[in-house]
Amino acid sequence: MKEQLLEVVVKEMQQGVVIINDKGLILYANPFFQETFAVNLPLKGINFTEVVEDALLLNTVETVLSSETGQSKEITIKGKGNQILEARLIPFSQNGLNGVIGFFHDVTEEKRVEAIKRDFVANVSHELRTPLASIKGYAETLLDGGLEDKGVLKNFLTIIDRHANRMTALIEDLLTLSMLESHQIPMKFEPLDIRVLITNVIQGFEKQAKDKGIELIIESGETYRELPKVMGDRVRLEQVIVNLIDNAIKYTNKGAVRISVRILDNLMQVDVTDTGIGIPEKDLLRIFERFYRVDKGRSRELGGTGLGLAIVKHIIHGHSGKIRVNSNPGEGTTFSFTLPIN
Ligand SMILES: Nc1ncnc2c1ncn2[C@@H]1O[C@H](COP(=O)(O)OP(=O)(O)OP(=O)(O)O)[C@@H](O)[C@H]1O
Ligand SMILES: [Mg+2]
Repeated sequence: MKEQLLEVVVKEMQQGVVIINDKGLILYANPFFQETFAVNLPLKGINFTEVVEDALLLNTVETVLSSETGQSKEITIKGKGNQILEARLIPFSQNGLNGVIGFFHDVTEEKRVEAIKRDFVANVSHELRTPLASIKGYAETLLDGGLEDKGVLKNFLTIIDRHANRMTALIEDLLTLSMLESHQIPMKFEPLDIRVLITNVIQGFEKQAKDKGIELIIESGETYRELPKVMGDRVRLEQVIVNLIDNAIKYTNKGAVRISVRILDNLMQVDVTDTGIGIPEKDLLRIFERFYRVDKGRSRELGGTGLGLAIVKHIIHGHSGKIRVNSNPGEGTTFSFTLPIN
């Protein structure tokens, strides 16, 4: 009874288990082990070397089998599907039967999350260090005797102020993103007139567009006048439109930025189209990732850290909407998002 129960436990384990005797023959392998090493033949009685090719694993099994001290070993290997596995190999000796029991634990997801965290910390530190280094450099120069010249003083303080603003914006974006990701700030839904929202946002960009000689156009049409309201969080949706228009102007040198709204069945779709530099196809899938920029140098020059679109995506998903992008390098880009109506 007890043995049957134990067998069920081992069979159902979300961890690979294999028992190998001292001749290298498999005495038992559970289904998880079979799946991990992608074998579909019955494994009992087969030599372990016929199932697994990984040299490190084979060597370790060998070492554990032949060691006098009876020590277990831990290694990290790859499965057949490129999963990352932590393997623990334990020697056993019972009723004259010697061998090794192997446990295989899939840590792919853990490693992936670890890598994301590591990248994130590296990115944040880097993005904060750059403006901080400038602030320190200019402050030191002033303290070293640059205080007398009023012109230099004003110039340097302006630069310091600009870098401090940049750091503030970065920290604000990081906090927003982190709160959106952990759902700490609930969306405050209310019926909204998206046209009013867009018009308000556009006003704030008129000067920036004019300075670059770019036309800012809201497309109107018959349907535009009859737009139904959408349920949305005013502040967050404003943030979405600000980010998309900011990008459109930032990455466009001449031409126009056009915003249009239309109704498709039970969805409202907003398109922000520019005639700018465009985005190469290989980058399209990644631009919604935190800190991802097509051209790091140029984006940084333009004051970007690559958080805008990550925030946009989170907000749109929080509204049960979708966002996508279409682009022709050299011709322009369209970001489109949808929001459910009713
Ligand atoms: N309209 C656009 N045209 C061309 N490239 C774009 C456009 N919008 C975004 N991109 C590319 O996608 C990248 C990511 O955009 P995102 O808004 O997330 O970051 P950013 O604008 O660089 O910085 P931030 O928005 O944090 O200030 C940009 O760096 C840019 O390379
Ligand atoms: Mg941006």
